[in-house]
Parts: sequence; structure tokens; C-alpha cells
Amino acid sequence: MSAHGAVDPLLGEALGKVAREVDAMFDALLPNDGRLAGAMRYAAIGGGKRLRPLLLMATAAIHGADRAQALRAAVAIEAIHAYSLVHDDLPCMDDDDLRHGKPSTHKAFGEAVAVLAGDALQAFAFEVLADPATSGDPFVRAELVQVLAMASGALGMVGGQMLDIEGEGQALDLAAISRMQQLKTGALLGAAVEMGAVLGKVPAEGRVHLKGYARDIGLAFQISDDLLDHAGDEGKAGKALRKDAGAGKQTFVALLGEGRAREQARMLIDQSIAYLGSYGQEADLLRAVARYIIERDR
Ligand code: IPE
Ligand code: IPE
Ligand code: MG
Ligand code: MG
Ligand code: MG
Repeated sequence: MSAHGAVDPLLGEALGKVAREVDAMFDALLPNDGRLAGAMRYAAIGGGKRLRPLLLMATAAIHGADRAQALRAAVAIEAIHAYSLVHDDLPCMDDDDLRHGKPSTHKAFGEAVAVLAGDALQAFAFEVLADPATSGDPFVRAELVQVLAMASGALGMVGGQMLDIEGEGQALDLAAISRMQQLKTGALLGAAVEMGAVLGKVPAEGRVHLKGYARDIGLAFQISDDLLDHAGDEGKAGKALRKDAGAGKQTFVALLGEGRAREQARMLIDQSIAYLGSYGQEADLLRAVARYIIERDR
């Protein structure tokens, strides 16, 4: 295993490339004029690890999908993620002033504009997916829209955010915390993998192992986010840390303690990699993403 925070060279190169491509595509597709467009660009461009785009594009590549089309779908899911962070940071939610190493969107543009920029990024995501440039096949476009909508809404990310808010100050058990994390974080990570499979025209029955992989890395991802909050370096993370405990957030770290939470995340990552057993080295990037999830420092 590499040292904490060190990135596998294969993964580092892939993340850098995807980040540049995602930034360029956001720049080309997002509106340009006015304060709302400015806030959308501020929230979407130049920040974040771009893990969801990488997962989507790596899965699409394994299954022979067109890279330019996959990039459009990747930008759509990252727009949803960026919107979720803008709203997550609002004073009525987590009240965070720093995101991606700069003032959060409501700090830079005001709360009303931040709410609207989040809303508009959400609509933008579906506009991009529904465009024929994303796939010439209308069935593929419709399925991309459906997968992303389900992962984003009341039975996905937003539903998980609701459980997160409701759970503050309560004592949730392991099953309830897992469910919250599965929704608020796991759903979108799972959608990234599934959208890659949709673009690669993998039939539903062929997606079972990919879904198992995605479910386990999704849970491990939120555990590692909570571990970062508990013990990470703010300068590296680019956001305020050590806030969850004070806010009464229900996390694996709160319930199990740091050591067992780390163990649980490691077990989930081993399990996620085992799901890729039927793939050869073409899935090495997905394996590297899984390992990175528990080793990352941002
Ligand atoms: C942070 O997600 C919020 C969670 C869902 C835990 P990421 O850690 O993927 O955020 P960025 O985009 O890389 O900053
Ligand atoms: C956020 O989880 C999950 C989202 C859906 C945005 P957190 O609230 O823990 O994310 P950070 O720590 O602010 O990035
Ligand atoms: Mg939150
Ligand atoms: Mg937060
Ligand atoms: Mg967090």
C-alpha cells in the first residue's frame, strides 16, 4: 500500500487528464454572461477531485464507449455534484465558508445567488444529457437521464441529505448511518459507474458486479470523508474540518471510533476490488480509484 495521501501514478495521470477535460467542457457549455452564470462557473470550474467523472469515463472506456460522449455525461454528473456542494455549504445546511480552497459560493455571491446557481447547475446537467451530442441513441440518453435523476433526488443524494439533517443530534445505529451514506454519497458514485455502463451498452444483467463495486466504494468514500473531517489536514482538504462532531453529525467515526471506521472502510475497499474479478487489467484504473478512496488526504 502506498503512503497516506500518495497517488498511484496511473491514477494521478488519469485524474489530471479528466480534470482538465471536465474544466474545458464546463467552460465550453456553461452560460457566460451575468452574475448567475458567474456563480455557476465559480462552483463548477477548477475545483474538486473529479472522481465521479473519472469513474464514469473509466467504466465507459472499459466497455468501448466514445470518450467525447462519456465526457459530456461526466460533466453532467459533476454538475449535480457541484450543485450538491453549493447547497450543502449554505448556512441553513452545513454552514461552511470554504470549499475547494476558496470561499464557498454563497460567501462569494450571496445566498440567493448560490441557491439559484445550484438549481441552474442541476437543470444544466439534464440539458447536457438529453442533447443528441451525448449519444445518438435516444434510449441511451433517456436511460442516462433516468439513472442520474434517480441518484440525485428524494431516493438518492437529496434523500440522503435529508437523513443527514434529520439525524443531527440523534443516535443512529449502524444500519441507519449506512443507509444515509448510501444515499447522500453512494448514490451519485454508483450513478457514475452505471452511466459509464449505459454508454458502453452493458445490459442490466451485466452490471451486477459493477454495481457491487460502486456500492462498496460509495460507502467507503463517505467513511473516508468523515475520517478526514475527524483527523485530516484542512489545508490539503480545502474545506473546514472537525465540524461533524460539534454539529452532532451521525457518522461511522462517531459510532465506531476512528480505528474501527478505518477498518470498515478498508474492508469495503477490498470487497469492491473483489467485485472486479471478472475484469483484467482494463479495470486497473477502477481498482486504483478504490484504493485511493481510503488513502486520500483531500
Ligand atoms: C465531498 O465529495 C462531499 C461528499 C459527497 C462526501 P468529494 O470529496 O468528491 O468532493 P470534491 O468535488 O472532490 O471536492
Ligand atoms: C455532503 O457530505 C454530501 C453531499 C451530498 C454534498 P458532507 O457534508 O460530509 O460533505 P463535505 O464534508 O461538506 O464535503
Ligand atoms: Mg453535509
Ligand atoms: Mg458539508
Ligand atoms: Mg464531510
